[in-house]
Amino acid sequence: MMESLSRPTLFDFHGVCMTNYFTDNWENVQNFRARPDDIVLASYPKAGNTWVSYILDLLYFGQTSPERQSSVPLHERVPFLEIQMSGYPSGVDVLNELTTYPRIIKTHLPVQFLPKSFWEQNSKIIYVARNAKDSAVSYFHFDRMNKVQPEPGSWESFLQRFMEGKMVFGSWYEHVRGWWEKKQSCSNILYLFYEDLIEDTEQELVRICSFLGLSPTTELKKQVTEKVQFDNMKNNKMVNGSADEVFDLKISPFMRKGRVGDWKNHFTVQQDEQFNEDYKKKMKNTDLQFRTVL
Ligand code: PPS
Repeated sequence: MMESLSRPTLFDFHGVCMTNYFTDNWENVQNFRARPDDIVLASYPKAGNTWVSYILDLLYFGQTSPERQSSVPLHERVPFLEIQMSGYPSGVDVLNELTTYPRIIKTHLPVQFLPKSFWEQNSKIIYVARNAKDSAVSYFHFDRMNKVQPEPGSWESFLQRFMEGKMVFGSWYEHVRGWWEKKQSCSNILYLFYEDLIEDTEQELVRICSFLGLSPTTELKKQVTEKVQFDNMKNNKMVNGSADEVFDLKISPFMRKGRVGDWKNHFTVQQDEQFNEDYKKKMKNTDLQFRTVL
């Protein structure tokens, strides 16, 4: 099936850069019928979506369906709403056939593209954000190994395009800000930071549970926290990307570094200065703050 897929080109789609793999099913995505108990897990690419989706999957199904953990890859348990690739069922089709409740739904859509039914149904939404520098680095390595993403080119050119918002799912700056602003008036959104998850996973787990109205036992919390640690996820074939045919893990692993501050191994001093200056301009009218080191 993989043979019929190739690296796509970016195009402007209602003001956001996208590829055909995320726009081909647009009408069905926009007309998606949400349910009040749906949980949407939204993020800009590479912010820790897989991490939080595994946390949620374990909280809801780790005990009731333990067999799923060793037989069904995470990307099938947490379908990707907007994806459509020839030879594979679309995200919408997979979601419509899910028999488990609640549905945990992955999306990278910017806030203005989320299907309106989620707002009408008051579905809960968890947004995960990660600092721009580590997001850019992680995205660069991802585009190297993901055969259905545009060619990343050199790190230097990639970083330039990141700053210009010429990435799949558009501008990081607009994405994180758009969801942040929406959160101010919408109590159904929990806004998480990757850096907080790294610093204290259990504390963030407690926040997630309280947002979702879950009261896990101390034992379950301990178990989940342990299973979602980077090294444990990296060694788990059901969550580490090895079940995903479009990844070439020899080029770069999906579970790559899992740290805050890896950007320091990529940015030159000059790139850092240029990036910081540009960042200040793009983020000047917001109180949204990120940590780039811990
Ligand atoms: S995707 O493909 O856009 O959905 O990617 P996403 O899952 O959002 O982000 C991938 C990055 O998250 C890191 N990751 C983790 N870090 C720490 N701990 C855990 N458990 C964990 N799970 C995933 C993953 O390694 C990617 O970041 P980088 O910096 O590339 O390592």
